[in-house]
Amino acid sequence: MERINPYYPIPVKIKKIIPETPNITTFILDGKPIDFEAGQFAELTIPNIGEAPFTPSSSPYDDDMEFTIMKVGRVTDALFNMKEGDLVGVRGPFGKPYPLQNFKGKEIFIVGGGVGFAPLRSLFLALLHDLKSYKKIYIRYGARTPQDLVYKRLIPEWQKIDRVDLLLTVDVGDESWQGRVGVVTVILDKVPVDVKSSPTVVCGPPLMMKFSTQRLVEAGFKHENIYLSMEKNMSCGLGKCNHCRVGRFYVCKDGPVLTWEEVKDIEEPFL
Ligand SMILES: Cc1cc2nc3c(=O)[nH]c(=O)nc-3n(C[C@H](O)[C@H](O)[C@H](O)COP(=O)(O)OP(=O)(O)OC[C@H]3O[C@@H](n4cnc5c(N)ncnc54)[C@H](O)[C@@H]3O)c2cc1C
Ligand code: FES
Repeated sequence: MERINPYYPIPVKIKKIIPETPNITTFILDGKPIDFEAGQFAELTIPNIGEAPFTPSSSPYDDDMEFTIMKVGRVTDALFNMKEGDLVGVRGPFGKPYPLQNFKGKEIFIVGGGVGFAPLRSLFLALLHDLKSYKKIYIRYGARTPQDLVYKRLIPEWQKIDRVDLLLTVDVGDESWQGRVGVVTVILDKVPVDVKSSPTVVCGPPLMMKFSTQRLVEAGFKHENIYLSMEKNMSCGLGKCNHCRVGRFYVCKDGPVLTWEEVKDIEEPFL
């Protein structure tokens, strides 16, 4: 659909609602109102309430668009009260995508924490779409408890895919949990990729981003190959309002994906 005014949201129905965890839900929209590439984000409007930025969690190649969203405040509270068939608005895409052309032929090391795995799912599905072009995909994903892991219904299938190596950890286990226990850096103890050439991609809460990045730097990844998904409060999404500045960058326009090389000299880049 042609977008006449970049501030005008395109209305679209919620087709399906899938609760993932006690406070995270996937909203599948009825169609794909905007084209996007993995890593780009959209502004989602809840009528009469407002809008907030979210990165699609679905493949850019799917006919429907999905968002996996954590309930944290005004906009997300209102969204969580909506039902299948209700209308939301979407505008975008905003920001720059992951530079997949630089990932070709390489091992890709993806690190996610909590709801930060949502944007990474879109990247992962885009890589799967063209799996023969990549050497191997490693995913390391952590959440607070087994209940807080998103995509529990999909992960066992992903773990069966040849050339995908997916490990999980939880901060606190329960009687059903057989896997690793500890924050996500416990599954970064071994980094079985060629760190001199491989890209690594990180998305999650600020502390997780900080400690995971430290570990990846120690492991020897080149700073320009460490891709970080930055989350900042936004308003216009168009590089005009100054809400989303990190150092000299506007996250909405220059990001949301920035490399460690770009942000390492900024004081507290993840806050
Ligand atoms: C590029 C980009 C992509 C994003 N993608 C996703 C996504 O895929 N899924 C998703 O769930 N969120 C995502 N976010 C975060 C999302 O935009 C915010 O959670 C949302 O704006 C909150 O809006 P609200 O009106 O519900 O909360 P507000 O009313 O604005 O905030 C309420 C309270 O929650 C706190 N808060 C706000 N955001 C968060 C947060 N992320 N975690 C914890 N506390 C928070 C605020 O500090 C405030 O105290 C993304 C953000 C950016 C910038
Ligand atoms: S959101 Fe307005 S400048 Fe980035």
